[in-house]
Amino acid sequence: MTEDDRRPEDDRRPDAVPDDPAGVGGLLAGLSPDRRDLFDLRVDRWWPDLLAGLRAVYPADQVDALSTRLLHAAAAGYAEREPDLHRLDQARTLAPDWFQRPGMLGYAAYADRFAGTLAGVAGQIPYLRELGVTYLHLMPLLAPRSGDSDGGYAVADYRTVRPDLGTVDDLRALTRSLRGAGISLVVDLVLNHVAREHAWAVAARAGDPHHRAYFHIFGDRTGPDAYERTLPEIFPDFAPGNFTHDQAAGGWVWTTFNAFQWDLNWANPDVFAEYAQIMLFLANAGVEVLRLDAIAFLWKRLGTNCQNQPEVHAITQALRALLRVACPGVLLKAEAIVAPGDLVQYLGQGRRHGRVSDLAYHNSLMVQVWSMLASRDVRLAVQALRRIPPVPASTAWITYLRCHDDIGWAIDDGDAGAVGLSGYGHRAFLSDFYSGAFPGTFARGLVFQANPATGDRRISGMAASLAGLDAALAAGDAGQVDLAVDRILLAYAIVLGWGGIPVLWMGDEIGAPSDPDWATEPGHQADNRWAHRPRLDPARQGQRHDPGTVPGRLFAGLRRLATVRASLVHLHAGTPAQVLAAADPGVLPVLHRHPQGDLLQLYNVTEQWRSWPGDRLAGYGLAGPGSATARDALTGDGAAPGGDGNLWLAPYRAVWLHGG
Ligand code: GLC
Repeated sequence: MTEDDRRPEDDRRPDAVPDDPAGVGGLLAGLSPDRRDLFDLRVDRWWPDLLAGLRAVYPADQVDALSTRLLHAAAAGYAEREPDLHRLDQARTLAPDWFQRPGMLGYAAYADRFAGTLAGVAGQIPYLRELGVTYLHLMPLLAPRSGDSDGGYAVADYRTVRPDLGTVDDLRALTRSLRGAGISLVVDLVLNHVAREHAWAVAARAGDPHHRAYFHIFGDRTGPDAYERTLPEIFPDFAPGNFTHDQAAGGWVWTTFNAFQWDLNWANPDVFAEYAQIMLFLANAGVEVLRLDAIAFLWKRLGTNCQNQPEVHAITQALRALLRVACPGVLLKAEAIVAPGDLVQYLGQGRRHGRVSDLAYHNSLMVQVWSMLASRDVRLAVQALRRIPPVPASTAWITYLRCHDDIGWAIDDGDAGAVGLSGYGHRAFLSDFYSGAFPGTFARGLVFQANPATGDRRISGMAASLAGLDAALAAGDAGQVDLAVDRILLAYAIVLGWGGIPVLWMGDEIGAPSDPDWATEPGHQADNRWAHRPRLDPARQGQRHDPGTVPGRLFAGLRRLATVRASLVHLHAGTPAQVLAAADPGVLPVLHRHPQGDLLQLYNVTEQWRSWPGDRLAGYGLAGPGSATARDALTGDGAAPGGDGNLWLAPYRAVWLHGG
């Protein structure tokens, strides 16, 4: 059944929870009456969401068996949950906005590149706390296939930790230490595909029909050719096409990413049940946020690009309902790096409002920040960001300047056209600019996966390289170094000033450059994303308190942004960031309206002095008769228009104005 032909009343049908399905009562028998009662209350609360999600995806005759099986898994997970985690669930249920608060700050790293092992990560907790981190995303740490594993995104066993990082007990110990320090651990749940070496794929290749049905395997090219007509290529360079012939499987296997990453068939309810159990396992190991890797690709539909299909959101709704029953402290985060128009669905629109992922990456904001810095013009960003519909007040964006992946120029042709640009032309400009090819550019990035068919050229590189620091240091030009530091801090002011959870990718806080030796490690040669996945340099980290060094200036600047942010109620994720019309094409204005007063942020994205009309401050209660004088929260200073009636902003200056 598809989303479209579901009966509208499906969501509302008053289904009773089955009486003691599959012996759930027995599973809970060892618990206190209060805890048994709490489980029942949660089931009553979430059962309709679970059923509605499942019914939008699976035929009616499969839903009963699957929902009973899931309830059983939830009860087992609930019964096994440690007292400490149970207490966390209760605390979070009492403060459901815990992750939306302005004190949240994220950090993302590969455990080995950050600290060697999981035990080593615990040793870095003081560093994380110094920065103000409350959320730590450790990139894939579950056992991958050996050899090239796409940075760990080809998982061979979801219940084992990568042996060189430690064990599941070490993971439990780490989550306990992090929890004690007020830091939530985020772990990837790779659910679009498994490694070809995962037990399910091994069984499928050995001919087991039960496990063959976990995958999309075609006997000949008819199916693959039909799908390929409308499918894009994700890695056209090193993994062209979306299907791989596998001798053992006797056919063509769907492999959206690399040949060794086998896409799962989510139309099979057994796949759903397997992942539900993996999620409960990770939750009980103390993982607090599950990053739903490549979630956009989960559902395949002929004649489409097989991304963002409605079933993806129904599946997320059902998975979330299940977690809310067993472990409501756990959040879901959608990794959907998709076009602006598709993005908001991942936080819930229409009848899925507030029922799908709690968090999603704000890919559009990230792209627009780089676009503004290259063009020194905010008009495209204003157009694109204003067009993004509001998201549910119970959710939050993950804001970021860059991540461990490449940057793809997700710029909508319509948005570009509305401000007099060609979408194709602007994307080409950004690729030229950030790869260092554009005359006079400050950036020194690398082209990732040039696709001659579409003209797309994505970009790799650390923030320091893309924002001009590497080039300025290489040229020994102190003035350019200053500008680059200011540019990075300006970009991060936008990222931290948006609301939601800002995430720093390891190294940016100390201005780490792109890794010139990225290609020398086995398995990395063809994938220049490793240029922006360097190892933490202890010498650079050691300079963070020295204000005379670049690491010292960046570290102090970021800490200041995080500290000020934490003090501003306006930056709670439930208060949306509204982009205002530009007065000067070089100044991005963002407004947060809050019952305690307005916060008006102005960002000069150029290396010249730019202004904002003083009379526009009055509208926000920030100037004029009877109003408080505006104060810049970032410096604590008053901010009044000059004699010409304008508020002047220095190059790359950010101000966060409030009534004081
Ligand atoms: C996600 C990851 C990326 C990986 C892909 C396939 O997009 O962030 O690194 O290549 O999924 O798993």
